[in-house]
Amino acid sequence: MNRAQNAPQAAKSIPNLGLKQRNTFGFDANAELAYEITASEQIPGVISDIAAQKLAWRVLGGGSNVILPAKLPGATLLMNIAGQEIIASDASATLLAVGGGVNWHELVAWTLENDLPGLENLALIPGTVGAAPIQNIGAYGVEIGDYIDRIEAFDTKDHAFVTLAKEACHFAYRDSYFKQNPQRFIVTKVVFRIPKSWNARIHYADLAKQFAKNSNPSAEEIFLAVCKIRTYKLPDPKVIGNAGSFFQNPIVPNEQYETLLQSHADLVSYPDEPGKRKLAAGWLIDQCGFKGQRMGLVGVYENQALVLVNHGGGSAQDILGLAKCIQDKVRAEFGVSLQIEPNIF
Ligand code: EPU
Repeated sequence: MNRAQNAPQAAKSIPNLGLKQRNTFGFDANAELAYEITASEQIPGVISDIAAQKLAWRVLGGGSNVILPAKLPGATLLMNIAGQEIIASDASATLLAVGGGVNWHELVAWTLENDLPGLENLALIPGTVGAAPIQNIGAYGVEIGDYIDRIEAFDTKDHAFVTLAKEACHFAYRDSYFKQNPQRFIVTKVVFRIPKSWNARIHYADLAKQFAKNSNPSAEEIFLAVCKIRTYKLPDPKVIGNAGSFFQNPIVPNEQYETLLQSHADLVSYPDEPGKRKLAAGWLIDQCGFKGQRMGLVGVYENQALVLVNHGGGSAQDILGLAKCIQDKVRAEFGVSLQIEPNIF
């Protein structure tokens, strides 16, 4: 077989691509030039093209954590690299390599079907495997960073493929080395390390309630419980446009937390690193009376105040206008700044 037969085809380029179906807010957005990336080998050529034409560019995964403007000038890379395979297994762990374009929830379901429990608390989070480590997705006491062995990416600064070991990824709450270096890395493959020993993590209030009468649930039972809770609290983007939590839970110094507690005895918070406390942004927003409110075509979800929604026909401008109202009121009421979680393109 000659080399040409092995080489993947060049990335398909599509001018003027509508992205309404590729962002979970359901905003009308148009990419001037989209490149469909189905193999990592296509990336260097695409990045060279972009550089030669001096185009603006960005990467789009599942579109579940982005706020898209009506027009995206330059190039938009659509990450569709497929495939998942077990690449090693020993007494302590299984190594699983997964293409960046694989759907996250489908991967979680696949791991359970293949007797690789561990990721069940992260069920039903929308988006792709390649996007998940960038904001270190987390839910119900588990973060994806806990399960990552290494990440393969294209480094657009050095124009070379790189492999970053877990430690080099600097995972923290909704943060990573990739997020700290925007526009630099394009994640192509994630290698997971799934330990052979497993224990149920049901300490989060919502899950503890579900398992009040069953202290020893299986991974499948936890998976189903997480799906049930998320289905109630988070609207299905196919029905109501949203990007999950719209703000990060703010982390404040202990002194500020103690002061707030004096005036708001029922303040909801979680322990964080020493000297700091993480506040429930949903509670702060709820206290300001925003839950279930509408502002034109957008609003705050009725079952979870941390989720902003597009009721249909809304735009990035509308959602950012609502976000500003919420940030201003929460700052005035509690002296706390809320950071927007999705990427604003
Ligand atoms: N709360 C209210 N009113 C609300 C919402 C929340 O009072 O409208 C209070 C409740 O007391 C609730 C607490 O805030 O118990 C925390 O709410 P919840 O359990 O829904 O979690 P969260 O802190 O709002 C975070 C993540 C979610 C993740 C859940 C469960 C962030 C920004 N969000 O939300 O992640 O699913 O914990 O672990 O950290 C996402 O990032 O898109 C996301 C959904």
